[in-house]
Amino acid sequence: MRMYDIIEKKKHGEVLSKEEIAFAVDGYVKEKIPDYQMSALLMAIYFKGMTDKELLDLTNCMAESGDMVDLSEIKGIKVDKHSTGGVGDKTTLVVAPLVAACGGKVAKMSGRGLGFTGGTVDKLESIPGFQTAIPEKVFFQNVNQSGVSVIGQSANIAPADKRIYALRDVTATIDSIPLIAASIMSKKLAAGSDKIVLDVTVGSGAFMKTKEEAVKLAEKMVAIGEGAGRETIAILTNMDVPLGVAVGNDIEMIEAIETLKGFGPEDFQEICEIFAVNMLVLGEIGDYKQCQKLVKEAIENGSALEKFAEMVKMQGGDESYIYHPEKFKKAPFQKNLTVPKMGYIQHMDTEMCGKASVILGAGRETKDSIIDSTAGIRFFKKTGCKVEKGEVLATLYSSSEKKLEEALSYLKSAYTFSDTQPENMKNVLAMVTKDGVTTY
Ligand code: URA
Repeated sequence: MRMYDIIEKKKHGEVLSKEEIAFAVDGYVKEKIPDYQMSALLMAIYFKGMTDKELLDLTNCMAESGDMVDLSEIKGIKVDKHSTGGVGDKTTLVVAPLVAACGGKVAKMSGRGLGFTGGTVDKLESIPGFQTAIPEKVFFQNVNQSGVSVIGQSANIAPADKRIYALRDVTATIDSIPLIAASIMSKKLAAGSDKIVLDVTVGSGAFMKTKEEAVKLAEKMVAIGEGAGRETIAILTNMDVPLGVAVGNDIEMIEAIETLKGFGPEDFQEICEIFAVNMLVLGEIGDYKQCQKLVKEAIENGSALEKFAEMVKMQGGDESYIYHPEKFKKAPFQKNLTVPKMGYIQHMDTEMCGKASVILGAGRETKDSIIDSTAGIRFFKKTGCKVEKGEVLATLYSSSEKKLEEALSYLKSAYTFSDTQPENMKNVLAMVTKDGVTTY
């Protein structure tokens, strides 16, 4: 077999066999195939796409390039959740303990933030002592005992994806729906859960800018999951505005704690509850109505918050922060962004909001950047709000006074104002399952 012939075949839009896909992926991981040939194949896939069968073969091959986590030591149906990323996306912090408080099993591997989006692992590490790198045996014990554990993704999960993603990043092939689907699902399949709920974000703060693109991505990921024998559903959520009112590490932790108590911002509270219910239904804890009731009760009776504190304690963290969020450190410097003229907030460029938070120190400019856990942005007014001149739109926080000025000018340019109220946005846009698409 020759890589040249595989590239030639895909260039003409022909279907690659499982053996050809394995030859390309394995050869690339073992460094027998050079970057320039893999780049050519990726570009051919970008233009010619892949059938569902090719995509499943590619995903399986990428997943099997490293460890395939065996979660069978954990009793019950393990349901994973994954978000395609966003700004202010702290959903896992709420959903994982909430599902466990209702009897579900969550054995979750999460990532760090890179680019304009934050990462669950960074947020959890803002709790003093919290360990995200724990031995597999302890991870399994924790889930068996308390129903939940969230750890960092181990180094050897889908190494083929790491290499291919780095190459896509420099060859303008990131924004290929089949390649994104294979990249995400290879890690999900390797992480070992029985069932998967995907949060496919849509809008200016997401990979997918339109609902149509997001539906296509969701359909591909659901087809991969189902093809691999893991029941998978995808929920499309609005990321054309930051999620909730906090972007940053400490302040997102505080927002997650408030949401577990039922006092979260409306959009974030709704999304968390919908994801928790769907994960419980997939975990066969009950039907939709029963799971809705369980979720409401766990929030109202405090068991969801207690479950979070239990998880924090089991992973070495100081759980008193969960009951006393005022203990999180405060940023030494802050600055307000105010309304330039009376009207309505027409739009918020959410990627720009994320970039402003990265400048403040809340995210990483490069893989080695150090996170400032106190840095971030609190939004007081979001898209659709009527505002008066001089009113505070947002407060920016940082440990560096210098960074505040630069971030402020970014954030300012993220807002568009108008004299008329924009249409109301829905938080949940659609649901994709193996049976089709339901639009809301
Ligand atoms: N997230 C991933 O893990 N991979 C992609 O290709 C895009 C988003």
